[in-house]
Amino acid sequence: MRKIPLIIILAISFISIISCKKDKKVVQTDNANGKIEQKVDSVLALMTLAEKIGQMNQYNGSWDVTGPASGVNDKEKETRLKNGGVGSMLNVLSVKATREAQKTVMENSRLKIPLIIGYDVIHGYKTIFPIPLGESASWDLDIIKESAAIAASEASAAGIHWTFAPMIDVSRDARWGRVMEGSGEDPYLTAKIGVARVQGFQGDDLTKNNTIAACAKHFAGYGFAEAGRDYNTVNVGEYELHNMILPPFKAAAEAGVATFMNSFNEIDGIPATGHKVLQRDILKDGWNWDGFMVSDWGSIGEMIAHGYAKDKKHAAEIAANAGSDMDMESYAYVAHLEALVKEGKVKEGVIDDAVKRILRVKFKLGLFVDPYKYCNEEREKNEIFTKENQDFSREVAKKSIVLLKNETNLLPLTKTGKTIAVIGPLADDKDTPLGNWRAKGGRDTAVSLLEGIQNAVPPSIKVTYAEGCSIVTDKGIGSTFLLPLKFNKTDKSGFQKAINVAKNADVVVLAIGEMALQTGEGRSQADIGFAGVQQELLEAILKVNKNVIITLMNGRPMDISWAAQHVPSILECWHLGSQSGNAIADVLFGDYNPSGKLPVSFPYHVGQEPLYYNQKMTGRPFSPQHVTFSGYRDAPKEALYPFGYGLSYTTFEYKNLQLDKTEIPVSGEIKVSVEITNTGKRDGEEVVQLYIRDLVGSLTRPIKELKGFEKINLKSGETKTVTFTINSKTLQFYTVNKKWEVEPGNFEIWIGTDSKASLKATFNVVE
Ligand code: BGC
Repeated sequence: MRKIPLIIILAISFISIISCKKDKKVVQTDNANGKIEQKVDSVLALMTLAEKIGQMNQYNGSWDVTGPASGVNDKEKETRLKNGGVGSMLNVLSVKATREAQKTVMENSRLKIPLIIGYDVIHGYKTIFPIPLGESASWDLDIIKESAAIAASEASAAGIHWTFAPMIDVSRDARWGRVMEGSGEDPYLTAKIGVARVQGFQGDDLTKNNTIAACAKHFAGYGFAEAGRDYNTVNVGEYELHNMILPPFKAAAEAGVATFMNSFNEIDGIPATGHKVLQRDILKDGWNWDGFMVSDWGSIGEMIAHGYAKDKKHAAEIAANAGSDMDMESYAYVAHLEALVKEGKVKEGVIDDAVKRILRVKFKLGLFVDPYKYCNEEREKNEIFTKENQDFSREVAKKSIVLLKNETNLLPLTKTGKTIAVIGPLADDKDTPLGNWRAKGGRDTAVSLLEGIQNAVPPSIKVTYAEGCSIVTDKGIGSTFLLPLKFNKTDKSGFQKAINVAKNADVVVLAIGEMALQTGEGRSQADIGFAGVQQELLEAILKVNKNVIITLMNGRPMDISWAAQHVPSILECWHLGSQSGNAIADVLFGDYNPSGKLPVSFPYHVGQEPLYYNQKMTGRPFSPQHVTFSGYRDAPKEALYPFGYGLSYTTFEYKNLQLDKTEIPVSGEIKVSVEITNTGKRDGEEVVQLYIRDLVGSLTRPIKELKGFEKINLKSGETKTVTFTINSKTLQFYTVNKKWEVEPGNFEIWIGTDSKASLKATFNVVE
């Protein structure tokens, strides 16, 4: 069903003929940039100002797009679709709905420029993968890329062209609810994972029908919200911005991410949506990035509440001039841009630039060739939530689990005759593992922990169950996006049954933590301990059975310091997605040896937040002997479980750290190698991590920075040598000269199992 208007076909073919005549030898595919640029220009030349502004307007599919519009606002949206007044829609789901929306445009508008349809496909479409923070704990770029590719394939089979992912906001504060959506506290790891996700979503060819456009969000600084309160003020200096916040975005831009989304927060007084330096000077001009910037939901209008714009018209003027190309749900562009251009407050060149960017992405996706390329009912029926996709989700889930503690080697459990008590509010929960931002992951469609254990054990093992308590007073509310949760602070009526079940078991697997909607957008918390009466349940169980394994389910680092002191084994199980229970059982019984590593520091106390390993030294470094040091008098300064941390059922020994030279020029290169031996009885995987410190800089430098990692497999008794290359890319930073440079001087280097790595060497960089 190809419906490209004649006017556009003529314009495009005219340009194609010219380009063929100019250089007969150049064979350009549809995707070749030169050819796309000519097509973009040719379409732009046909457009009226109103049609251009229409492209910059994105609407939510709030009404049933397969039926007639209902409310006044919906009718207006439908009329605008017909008049070429809408360039994009979001939240239009299913082949039927996306086809109808596209048809409305293709069959009614003058130029018939196809819509681009977006949706938050964050960690899967219907087959749900671990939440991004959990998946990041795998440190496995191949599986992360593949899980994004599967998400893209399922979403595209349901008509979606574009995902608002990956979120690559570095986030250091566990109180912030959106920690779950990113890759944690480190810019290097976040950049690597962000690129893997972009590559997974977009593949190597956006014109294929199973790849979709990605969106690097939220530009920028959103993860640095003061006190972890969502949407809050961000105050970072220029150097912190460049060295800590921007690197993942730069990497995504270099990887060819099709779109960016700006953020709700202000940075140093300027809302990101109206931030010209960020959007134009740094991203578009500085990094030479040619995709388009969509605003966050209503963020153009929100500049009024920020006190930065006096009304919507003013907001539209600021945002367009600053480089926000598409207006998501503020209705500011559609209402005011035309007048602003006529008044000379926004130049038509600004509009042209935005429209070209949007058209470019539509051309790259192949939407001009076939606007219905994702509308295939067969694919929708056969390629979503398949057995293969769920099997892969289990793979990713088991690799995302982090073994935090295993003091008495309670784990792995043998599969021989015993009684296992499965207890806790999350033990038989089929919804929580899907996490927040679960797209079309249907309510209660995850494999619960109880089911996973039952699936795994032979008949000789007896599995008993008790809920113990619930986390909220009304479980139904737990899945309603906008309602706040009401925690159960009093009802302990289930305790006695749980205690009895625990008493009569050899071992207890206790599933506690956070419900899905305790994290995610707007879900900041001042208390990051166990909500409700969970802590009391834990203590009551531990009194009658010491063999407790906590399977923690959560979307942020939590304060689990009491548990860490008293419980022998703890598995960090995040919100692991559709196959959660099976994946946890794989690890509990040792069918998979855990290999995950924390992408965030876990605190002893919420008062330590924001907590991150790559902190600065200060003028009064920590000293337990003195009061006037930089730390706390009533809590440790360090993390309970540091960044990069995670145990295995085997043990690894690091030795023989060697540098091929100890002095290099700024453009030089050092090879650093280390030997790792699996000294335990099981085969296992280890994430070998490289950290550096630049001792003296034109700006103060972090005490440690991750600069490389490699995940390796080691058989029991096996030794491998891992080699990293250190070069100017590793050593440079955004210096006082406002450039990325390597500064000569002394460096320290560590390689090890986590950010506390102690195997150390030094080298010098000379002029
Ligand atoms: C979020 C974005 C999301 C958008 C569309 C906003 O509230 O901040 O991350 O992509 O909604 O759903």
